[in-house]
Amino acid sequence: MKAVLLGTAAGGGFPQWNCACAPCDGARSGRLASRSQDCLALSGDDRNWWLFNASPDIRTQLVATAALNPGPGPRDTPVRGVVLTDAELDHALGLLTLRGAAGVEVHATAAVSEALHGDLDLRAVLDRYADWTWHDVVPGKPFDLDGGLEVTAVPISGKRPKYTGGSTVDGDWVVAYRVVDRRTGGTLVYAPCLATWPAALEHLLADADVLVLDGTFHSPDEMGVRTGGSHGQAAMGHLPIAHSLPELRRHPGVRRIYTHLNNTNPVLDPDSPEHADLVAAGVEVPPDGTVIEI
Ligand code: MLT
Ligand code: MN
Ligand code: ZN
Repeated sequence: MKAVLLGTAAGGGFPQWNCACAPCDGARSGRLASRSQDCLALSGDDRNWWLFNASPDIRTQLVATAALNPGPGPRDTPVRGVVLTDAELDHALGLLTLRGAAGVEVHATAAVSEALHGDLDLRAVLDRYADWTWHDVVPGKPFDLDGGLEVTAVPISGKRPKYTGGSTVDGDWVVAYRVVDRRTGGTLVYAPCLATWPAALEHLLADADVLVLDGTFHSPDEMGVRTGGSHGQAAMGHLPIAHSLPELRRHPGVRRIYTHLNNTNPVLDPDSPEHADLVAAGVEVPPDGTVIEI
């Protein structure tokens, strides 16, 4: 299996257009590497590619990635579809960019699918552009993706997007995916939204080769401290690195990568002590475009 880290920043990207925190200033000046919003591409055969989440940056991410470029026919694309971990805007708005493509397959849990058909009626809009197929993801029930990948969803958090104010659905709002290459047995776990450290993750890590994990914030009060605001409480539903890193230290055999990094996160700076802690633990924050063979 091949994985491309198309984007590794949280919603808003890095730098964020309206943020003057120290890391954002560092990215604007070119001292720190900019990052686009979280999105992962996977393929079992290098011909059929699947997007895990579709960020608002998907156009530039696709254009920048040779393996995802169109051809050989004028409208052929190796992008077969999108697998959603949740219905957050930074993970779903890229679907609108893909509207010109026929035959896209979208996989999402019932809760996510309903959000995209209710509060945010993306599905009705997209239906008018092209014939797409929407598949219900049932946690614990494996499904296959063209190219030899087997995928299983694991419920991981009940965090609902803010825009779903009217929804009473109490379902699988956020899942992690375990992706297995049927040919090689290589296994990747993708969990870009995580509120706690669930027991399910321990099981997933037992036979994983690579983990791509929520690294939004380093500390729970980071947003307030860095931006002078007060919205740091509970780290907005994201388990801070300060709490997940001790767990990751117990799994040295897994290649561990943080993604969905918020622009306030000190690990974005390779010279920070927080980044040094990651390096010491063997945990990575690779740049956008990183290709991983599993
Ligand atoms: C999140 O990951 O918590 C959301 O994407 C926040 C947002 O709406 O930007
Ligand atoms: Mn997000
Ligand atoms: Zn910032």
